[in-house]
Amino acid sequence: MDDVLRIKDLPDRIGETVTLRAWVEKTRSSGKIAFVVLRDGTGYLQCVVPKGEVDATVWEGVKTLAKETSVQVTGGVRADARSPGGVELGMRELEVIGESVDFPITPKEHGTTFLFEHRHLWLRSRRQGAIMKVRHEVIQAIRDFFYERDFCLVDTPLLTAAIGEEAGTLFETDYFDLGKAYLAQTGQLYLEAAAAALGKVYCFGPTFRAEKSKTRRHLTEFWMVEPEVAWYDSDANMGLQEDFVSYIVQRCLELRKPELELLERDTAPLEVIQPPFPRISYTDAVAKLQKHGQSIEWGRDLGAEDETTIATWYDKPVFVYNYPKEAKAFYMKLNPDDPRTVLCNDCLAPEGYGEIIGGSQREDDHDTLLARIREEGLPEDAYGWYLDLRKYGTFVHSGFGLGVERTVAWICGIPHVREAIAFPRQMHRIHP
Ligand code: 4AD
Ligand code: MG
Repeated sequence: MDDVLRIKDLPDRIGETVTLRAWVEKTRSSGKIAFVVLRDGTGYLQCVVPKGEVDATVWEGVKTLAKETSVQVTGGVRADARSPGGVELGMRELEVIGESVDFPITPKEHGTTFLFEHRHLWLRSRRQGAIMKVRHEVIQAIRDFFYERDFCLVDTPLLTAAIGEEAGTLFETDYFDLGKAYLAQTGQLYLEAAAAALGKVYCFGPTFRAEKSKTRRHLTEFWMVEPEVAWYDSDANMGLQEDFVSYIVQRCLELRKPELELLERDTAPLEVIQPPFPRISYTDAVAKLQKHGQSIEWGRDLGAEDETTIATWYDKPVFVYNYPKEAKAFYMKLNPDDPRTVLCNDCLAPEGYGEIIGGSQREDDHDTLLARIREEGLPEDAYGWYLDLRKYGTFVHSGFGLGVERTVAWICGIPHVREAIAFPRQMHRIHP
């Protein structure tokens, strides 16, 4: 049992008799010959069952197979150029392990509500499997990128005191005698402490935002990877981001071609994702948007529509940098050349996918940061330890956060982030 043969390994077993376990994707029969397509997560395998050449029990058994029945089959592996993987199986033995009566997802069209209610079963479909494999590749690429560049992984807490990105979107829970705890919206502030200890660090985990946004870009639980680098300014921070995003995309193109093909992703727009990425200041972007007749005013954050328009000016991801301080978080460093703005950037993906990264240089001056915390009316005592980092050896530092689901959605070319995670959490969805 511990060394079950997998479909992907069959090309090395041509001419041998093998036994494997899998699920039935579909069957068809012409009366004299039947075909069973099996799936085991590593690939698909066509089994051929000629009526005259197998035991009657096998033939009768094949006729009872329904979609998603789990089976054990034994047969000879044969080369077959037309089959996926280049092999097929001449089935000789069949054992039903688990029946599957009336599998709810059929080849006919289902509405998205129905599919998400059956997410636990829908995951077995070819498309959903391909998306999960691209996600897996994106995550492995993220880990490799930072490992190769000598970043130290630091896991930050998911239960936090009142501290984060935006007070209005915290999930709260009771925390013993200490009052309320909140689910982390970011690991960044803890990571800044770790950067002073270890220099180049990153955290990677789920983050939580009680955002009442029903858009195709928002989840209430999403995965974010956040690096933080001592002695990097905002410019160097953008340099790291363009290397990082290009690395992830090129890795998927190299290793996930079959999945992207199955998803019918046009890969031409992905091939060009190489550093450097274009950069435009927030102020210039707003002026250009106004020229295009958009109603944005200087001082407001960019909306999804503004982001989409800006992205159409370029064929690569674009950095929009130095936003007005009112539009961004309190911890960003004031721009010495224009204190109405902060040293930050968003990275907008092409093809209408919008913001995939938010990053900034951090305010490293104690008194300026304290003033910003007071200005925003944040609970000062909760930020005491964070201010300490500016009291004991303050340092120029920068970092960013990349949203995994938005990145996966973009690379896969799927319209909504909810398919980019196995069990999405949204305002109106917590089941299954
Ligand atoms: O721009 P955000 O809010 O940045 C931060 O949290 C910083 N603390 C990061 C840092 O500097 N260390 O979020 C970063 C990214 C966004 O660009 C987006 O890709 C993703 O996280 N994101 C979401 N993804 C899905 N659903 C949501 N509700 C998201 N909110 C943010
Ligand atoms: Mg942001």
